[in-house]
Amino acid sequence: MFSHLAASPDDPILALNEAFMRDARAHKVNLSIGMYFDATGALPVPDAVREAERRLAARAGAKPYLPIEGQPDFSQAVRALLFGLGHEAVAAGRIATLQTVGSCGALRVGAELLRQAFPGSAVWVSDPTWENHRAIFHSAGMAVHAYPYFDHGTGRLRFEALCKAIGALPAHSVVLLHACGHNPTGADMTRAEWTQLAALMARRALIPFVDLAYQGFCEGLDADAAPVRLLADAGLGLLVANSFSKNMGVYGERCGALSVVCPDAAQATLVLGQLKAIVRQNYSSPPMHAGRLVTEVLNDAALREAWAREVEGMRLRTNAMRAALHEVLRQRLPGYDADYLLRQRGMFSFTGLSPAQVDALRESHAVYLVRSGRMCLSGLNGGNVDRVADAIARVIG
Ligand code: LMR
Repeated sequence: MFSHLAASPDDPILALNEAFMRDARAHKVNLSIGMYFDATGALPVPDAVREAERRLAARAGAKPYLPIEGQPDFSQAVRALLFGLGHEAVAAGRIATLQTVGSCGALRVGAELLRQAFPGSAVWVSDPTWENHRAIFHSAGMAVHAYPYFDHGTGRLRFEALCKAIGALPAHSVVLLHACGHNPTGADMTRAEWTQLAALMARRALIPFVDLAYQGFCEGLDADAAPVRLLADAGLGLLVANSFSKNMGVYGERCGALSVVCPDAAQATLVLGQLKAIVRQNYSSPPMHAGRLVTEVLNDAALREAWAREVEGMRLRTNAMRAALHEVLRQRLPGYDADYLLRQRGMFSFTGLSPAQVDALRESHAVYLVRSGRMCLSGLNGGNVDRVADAIARVIG
């Protein structure tokens, strides 16, 4: 019946994670998927989220369908987290927010809205970008192109080339931007560069679509949302897909949100209506447990504070692992420039290792990286960092 179908390629990140799970070698190290592991190598659920879970279980209420857009207190909490409570766009009611199935779901629902609202528009993603971005927009029916972003030779941003490319786009082109912890390079724009880009995009009437999957992992919860606020302050209409997978440790609960900043409240109402139709025709309404968990943490002052402290702990530990790997590599490989580890931010760094070197790391040393050379620093700990550095030294040397 289906023999005429072409074989589908494996997903470059999720298939690798599954291969890691099947690997029987006790000393294996997972630096592939973007997940935060703690100092013991375990996948933690923050205590604040566990406490929220206990409270929800104690209430043991019914399990009705959620509204298509999720609960209003969820959306309110998300807007406060992204924009800050006092932000003018929040107060003016001109942000349409809905709970989505992870931030992947937010990207897909947002892509469908944009295809409907601007049928001729294409989306421009950074070169390189997260493997799934292209596929999500393509499957939503949008043409996908790339703008220059990262120079593999220097390991730095190509900001001038980026501005040149974006400055030449037709009005209503969609530009996908990573708010912080660029995936896969870990190379972010500075505040001054964001400001320059926001002004350029406003002049050209472009539509930013911001992917904020790593809030809290770069400079902190508030600072990491700064690009979103800055774009809104520049008078742009924009979309934001944010994820709670990493900062709440709720990966499999699939909880994210889509927020669309509109010129006024009337347009936000129109947009929310369209988004609800898109969701209803797809998965109908979002998962209840995930939404309630996130809402419980964000809307309870004590839990929120405890959670923020735990996110800060994750950020600091990941940064400490950057420094530790940098130091061991400096000792093992004196001629190797590992300074990129200190320059880049968030969970990822682009190591510059070739696919053949990545394959050798995996096959000979049980160290898993994505084949692009992307390394997830959050998988490092005191017990494996020396072994990882030794393995890198062997495949490079
Ligand atoms: C990653 O980039 O590794 C994560 O965002 C997980 C995923 O879905 O690819």
